[in-house]
Amino acid sequence: MSDNRPVLIFDSGLGGLTVLREARYLLPYETLLYVADDAAFPIGRWPEDELKQRLLSLFDNLIASHDPKAVVIACNTAFTLAGEALRMAHPDTPFVGTVPAIKPAAEQTSSGMISVLATPGTVRRTYTRSLIDSFASQCHVRLVGSDMLAELAEKYLRGEAVSDEELQVEIADCFLESDGKRTDIVVLACTHYPFLANRFRKIAPWPVDWLDPAEAIARQLVRVLGTDTETRPASVADIALFTSNPEAPALKRLIAGFGLKLEAYSSKTS
Ligand code: DGL
Repeated sequence: MSDNRPVLIFDSGLGGLTVLREARYLLPYETLLYVADDAAFPIGRWPEDELKQRLLSLFDNLIASHDPKAVVIACNTAFTLAGEALRMAHPDTPFVGTVPAIKPAAEQTSSGMISVLATPGTVRRTYTRSLIDSFASQCHVRLVGSDMLAELAEKYLRGEAVSDEELQVEIADCFLESDGKRTDIVVLACTHYPFLANRFRKIAPWPVDWLDPAEAIARQLVRVLGTDTETRPASVADIALFTSNPEAPALKRLIAGFGLKLEAYSSKTS
């Protein structure tokens, strides 16, 4: 039976596009629906209760309106807070999550010193602490919460100037040296940050691996969909919905550059 329902990919802004491009590469025949809650961006500094409520009611609306075959929460800040509650609220919809790649980092590090670069919210989460306890107790893990990087990534993507100094301040705490060893892996635990990875490489005090989970998330989506993959009708375009219904031409061009057609978001179910 044909199932042309979309795969919904969610983030607070443009960061989830790092996951969308991998999903499209692995699943070229799926119809993708990108949803950015940019009216709330950046969500990394939101109080937990308020953010969780916002996400739950947003998804009540999105799932009722679009009936996605699967949802990818392409946002560490959202998933580490509300992933479990979203799954419970929508038991018939498979959710693929994004969590800090602490397990692979712990498996790959040679020095045993890894840093997790994330939003302040993700750094605070119980979920993140339990990933460290479960998978990286033998490592030295430095959590670095950045106030500004998600916004700087969006500026950079829109073609606005972002200086090395601005980035340097945000990543400096990732680099530790102790007993002749130094940090060798930095986990990019916010989906916005891979857009800045090449800039980070240039200004890092020494080379490290910058772990981007996007491909692993897309592979998990392939596993979740299983054989439920379909050829889309040629006429169906991938759609983007931004909750602020932005008008800025630079943003519209950027979204079009990712092969997405921007449509009006309505908070009412259709
Ligand atoms: N892209 C989001 C993440 O992966 C967070 C960006 C924001 O602060 O809104 O955590």
